[in-house]
Amino acid sequence: MTKLAPQNMTTSEIKLELKELTKNLAKYDEEYYTNDAPSITDAEYDELKKRALELEEFLNQTDLFGNLVVSKKVGSKVKNGFKKITHIIPMLSLENLYNDDDLKEFTTRIKKDLALLPNETFDIVAEYKIDGLSFNARYENGTLVSAATRGDGTIGEDITENIKTIKDFPTQINTTLPVLEVRGEVYMSKEDFINLNKYQEAHGEKLFANPRNAAAGSLRQLDANITKKRNLSVIVYAWGEVSEPKPWNTQEEFYKYAKSLGFPIQPIFKICHTYDELKDFYHKIESERHAIPFDIDGIVYKINDLNLQKKLGFIARAPKWAIAHKFPPQQAITIIKDITLQVGRTGVITPVAELDPINVGGVMVARATLHNQDYIKAKDIRKTDTVVIERAGDVIPQVVEVKLSERKPYTTEFIMPTTCPVCGEPISQKKDEVALRCTNPNCPAQIKEYLKYFISRDAFNIDGLGSSQIELFYDKGWLKNPTDIFSLIQNHKEDIEKLEGYGKKSIENLTTSIENAKNIKLDKFIYALGIFGVGSATAILLANKFTSIDNLKNATFGELIDIYGIGDTMAMDILNFMRDETKINLINELTKIITIENPEKIELDETHPLYEKTIVFTGTLSTLGRKEAEDIARKFGAHPTSSVSKKTNILVAGESAGSKLDTAKKLGIEILSEQDFLNIIGKK
Ligand code: IVH
Repeated sequence: MTKLAPQNMTTSEIKLELKELTKNLAKYDEEYYTNDAPSITDAEYDELKKRALELEEFLNQTDLFGNLVVSKKVGSKVKNGFKKITHIIPMLSLENLYNDDDLKEFTTRIKKDLALLPNETFDIVAEYKIDGLSFNARYENGTLVSAATRGDGTIGEDITENIKTIKDFPTQINTTLPVLEVRGEVYMSKEDFINLNKYQEAHGEKLFANPRNAAAGSLRQLDANITKKRNLSVIVYAWGEVSEPKPWNTQEEFYKYAKSLGFPIQPIFKICHTYDELKDFYHKIESERHAIPFDIDGIVYKINDLNLQKKLGFIARAPKWAIAHKFPPQQAITIIKDITLQVGRTGVITPVAELDPINVGGVMVARATLHNQDYIKAKDIRKTDTVVIERAGDVIPQVVEVKLSERKPYTTEFIMPTTCPVCGEPISQKKDEVALRCTNPNCPAQIKEYLKYFISRDAFNIDGLGSSQIELFYDKGWLKNPTDIFSLIQNHKEDIEKLEGYGKKSIENLTTSIENAKNIKLDKFIYALGIFGVGSATAILLANKFTSIDNLKNATFGELIDIYGIGDTMAMDILNFMRDETKINLINELTKIITIENPEKIELDETHPLYEKTIVFTGTLSTLGRKEAEDIARKFGAHPTSSVSKKTNILVAGESAGSKLDTAKKLGIEILSEQDFLNIIGKK
C-alpha cells in the first residue's frame, strides 16, 4: 500500500501511524533480537523503520538530547536468565543504503563534511557485512574477562562462557594494553547451518530458518555446553573501550593488530578511494556472494583514518564515518501449485510446496520445504497461496510469508495425513518431537531413500548409480536392500541391457564402479550405515577411535562420549543402532561381500614430544601441506589449531612466517623449524 507523504496527513494521523509502527517495530525487534525468530524479512523491517523515521522527522519528535526516538533504538531487551553486562561504550548500529545513487551521495556527503577539495581523496575500507550476531569481548591485561551480545546497544547478555567455546577465539592475547575490547560478529557457516538443521530434523528438534538465527540460537544458550556442540565462527571488525594510546591509527592498522593477536578478521577487505572503486567492489562481491562460505547481507564502508572518523562523528544511533550497503534480498513471489509429502530415509514425513518455478537470486526454484505441520500452521500456508520465497543460507528455499491479501476464496487449511502417503501404514509422533514419522521399516519410500544415501558420495560413492536409477531398479524389484547392489549386474545384466540408454559401455562402467565400491574405508562404511545424526565428520571420529566395525559394534556409552564432538544423545543413537538386530544383520551381510579398509590403530606414545600438545603451523612448509602436517601431528596425539595464544605449546614456522611467529616469540612459545618437526616425527 502506498503511504501518504506526511505533508498530506494531519498531525493526529501521523501520530496514530507512528504509534502503530513503534508498537510493531518493538514486536519485530523482540522477535529478531530476543527470540531469534523474525516473522518479517530484513527488507520489510527496514521499510517500516524508514517510514517511522520519515514520520518522526516530520513531527520533529526528539528526545531530551535531540535524537529521533525510533531511530535511536538498537536491538532489544536481554533474554530472561542471562546476566546483564553494560557496555561502557554503547554498541551502535549502521545506517543502510540500498543502491548506487545512495552510495554516490554518501561519498559526496563525506567529502563535503570533511571540507575536501573535489580532487582530494581519502581511504575507505570496503568489507563484508557479516550476517550474524554482534558481540563485545573485553580483555584485561591480555585475559578475556567478559563477553556480551549487543542487546539494546547499552545492556547486553553475558555470553562469556559461550564465546569461550568457539574455536579460534582466543581467551588470552599478547597485548600490552591494560584494557582492550574487541567487537565483531559471531556467525555460522552455510555448511555448518545445513548440517545442524539435518541433525535437528533427524532428532525432531526445532529447525533454524537461516544461519543467523542458528548462530544466535546457539550462542545465546544458558548452558554453554550446547554452544560448544554447535560450530560457530567469529570475525572481529571493531573495538569498544581501549586503553590509550591505541596502537592503531586506521581501520586497516586495527585489523593488522587484531590479526597479530590471533583474532580472526575479515577474509578480504579493500581500501578504495573513489565512488567507482566502491561500487565495483560491491557489485563484484554481490555476484560472488553465493560462493562465500558464510552469509553476508551487504558491504560495509568505513573511513580508514581514525582522525577523519573523529571529525565526522556520529548521528543518533550510528557513526557518520561508516555505512552498510545492503544486498537486495534473495527473494521472489510465486504460487504454491500443490503441497506434497516426502518420506525421508528415517521415515520423517516432510510437506513440500510445489511452486510455479521462479528465479530466486539467479537459481530456478520449483520446490520449497514446509518442514512440518507446525511450520505450516504458524504461517497458515495453503495450496494456491501466493507466497514469498527466500533462499536461506543461500541454499534451501523457504516459504517466508503468505500474501494473505491475495488468497483465493474457499481455500482450506492443509491437514497432515494420519497414514503414510507411500505405504499407507499409520503415522506416529514421538513425544517432544514435531516431526511425523512413518514407522513401517519396510516402507518403500524409506528404503529407496536409504539406498540413495547408501550410494552417495560420502558413503559407497557408486558412479553410474544415481537417485533416478535407484528409483527405477527398486520399482522393477531388482534392488530391495543395499546388499542387492553388489549382485545387481550378475542378477539383472540382461534386464538392464534392455533399458533405454544402457549400452554395453555404461554397463561395463557400472560394473567397475560397483566392484570398486566393494573396497571401502571404515569411516565411509560407518557413514553409509545411516546411524541417526552421524554425518561424515562423526564417522571419521568413530573410525579413528574404534578402528574396526566389530569394535564399534561393542562400543560402550563411556567410550563414545569420550570422543570430542560426541554428546549423550548421539552416543545413545549409536548404541541403539548397534543393538538393533536388523541393523546388525545388515552389517554382517555387507561384511561378507565387501572389504573394509580399517585405519591404522594409533597407539599414542605418551612420552612423545607432540603428545597432548597444542600446535600451530604457520608460513609455507616445503615438504608437507598444512593439512598433511596437521594430520601427522594428530597421529602423535597433538591438537592442531590455527591461532596462537597462551594455550599454544608449539609453533612450527615455515617460510615467510608472519605475525603468528612474532606473537609466539613474545609469548615464549616453543618454536620449531620445518626440519625440527620432521625430526620429531621421524621423517628426516
Ligand atoms: S561495524 C559502529 N562492520 O551490522 C558500528 N558492523 O547493521 C560498528 N555488522 O551492528 C559496526 N558486519 O552487528 C561493522 N563488517 C562489519 C559488520 C558489521 C556486520 C553488523 C553489526 C552492526 C550491524 C549494523
